[in-house]
Amino acid sequence: MIVGVPREIKAGENRVAMLPSGVAAFTAHGHQVLVEKSAGAGSGIADGQYRDAGAQIVASAKGVWDRAEMIVKVKEPVGPELGRMHAGQIIYTYLHLASDESLTRHLMKKKVTAIGYETIQRDDGALPLLTPMSEVAGRLAVQKAAQCLEAASGGRGILLSGVSGVKPAHVVILGAGTTGQNACHVAVGMGAHVTILDIDPARLRYVHDIMGGHVTTLMSNRATVGEEVLQADVVIGTVLIPGARAPVLVTKGMVKQMRPGAAIVDVAIDQGGCIETAKPTTHAEPTYTVHDVVHYCVTNMPGAVPRTSTYALTNATLGYGLALADKGLEPALASDKALRRGLNVHNGHVMHRGVAEAFGMDCVEF
Ligand SMILES: NC(=O)c1ccc[n+]([C@@H]2O[C@H](COP(=O)([O-])OP(=O)(O)OC[C@H]3O[C@@H](n4cnc5c(N)ncnc54)[C@H](O)[C@@H]3O)[C@@H](O)[C@H]2O)c1
Repeated sequence: MIVGVPREIKAGENRVAMLPSGVAAFTAHGHQVLVEKSAGAGSGIADGQYRDAGAQIVASAKGVWDRAEMIVKVKEPVGPELGRMHAGQIIYTYLHLASDESLTRHLMKKKVTAIGYETIQRDDGALPLLTPMSEVAGRLAVQKAAQCLEAASGGRGILLSGVSGVKPAHVVILGAGTTGQNACHVAVGMGAHVTILDIDPARLRYVHDIMGGHVTTLMSNRATVGEEVLQADVVIGTVLIPGARAPVLVTKGMVKQMRPGAAIVDVAIDQGGCIETAKPTTHAEPTYTVHDVVHYCVTNMPGAVPRTSTYALTNATLGYGLALADKGLEPALASDKALRRGLNVHNGHVMHRGVAEAFGMDCVEF
């Protein structure tokens, strides 16, 4: 198979979808890998390293998209990439389609096969290609929240950890999955007072056990969320219903009643966000203020730390990518249920129930 790795062009995105070691694995399996010139520069990987691993360096993005049977990317196709895809091409990347109807319709119109990293799901519910980036985003969320709280950012001007004789910040984390747990670790490590909410008692029990009572765990419902948010200095949104649009837990009315200068980091913004006042932002302009509350809603947070994120991401994506190239699309999907759940659009049809439900479309079974 001819596999293409374009340079990412989404704002502030410095990750790359394949490492030189990945190129070596694909070429050892008899595939050809086209890497766009400078694709790895943002992650500190030079063209020569890809060439030494067996890749062909291609001068233009168009050259990669035109020739590749499978495009391996990090973020959803944007801008000129939308015109470059062609019928029958496999696009293997993060897509988050349930919050993007126009991209969903575009992929259908182009008759590509779109496999979303974020919906590849094992039988036990694990999301192996979302998990590493959720670890990064959860940890980074606390770092970003601390900055949002600084006076120069329009924040309350408090230190997350407090100091002796002065209270720490109250951090409320919505969702106790991978992102929420990682945010929790860092926030507790920095000395904040943390409350974490989820609808899954097993997740709460786990957090309660591992954090040894340093964290308050609460069942998530309208009343508990409302109460906690009003007392929060920081709210971190991390809820997910796999493949579907994120549920809105914090309404505009709740945001209006929050403390002036409080901070919201809505990590779930890539699935539409779980805070009503959240709208997608970029690394170039990451924050805005609504009702005196500083909002940080960057959809590709791990792009800020590419030298960590590229390695964590490609560790997880390589195996499924190789399976697609080695077996071919249909046998690879037929033989692996987890990969099959990653299929979002194929041959003009939506193939994922969550995406279809988000837009009232029909869902076609593979
Ligand atoms: N912005 C970014 O750059 C970025 C990066 C990585 C991940 N994400 C996003 O972060 C989100 C979380 O990902 P994850 O891997 O942690 O998911 P996860 O499945 O591990 O955790 C989600 C948690 O949300 C809980 N939940 C669902 N509904 C809830 C509700 N009503 N109240 C409270 N909790 C509820 C679930 O029980 C689960 O524990 C996803 O939308 C993911 O795409 C964003």
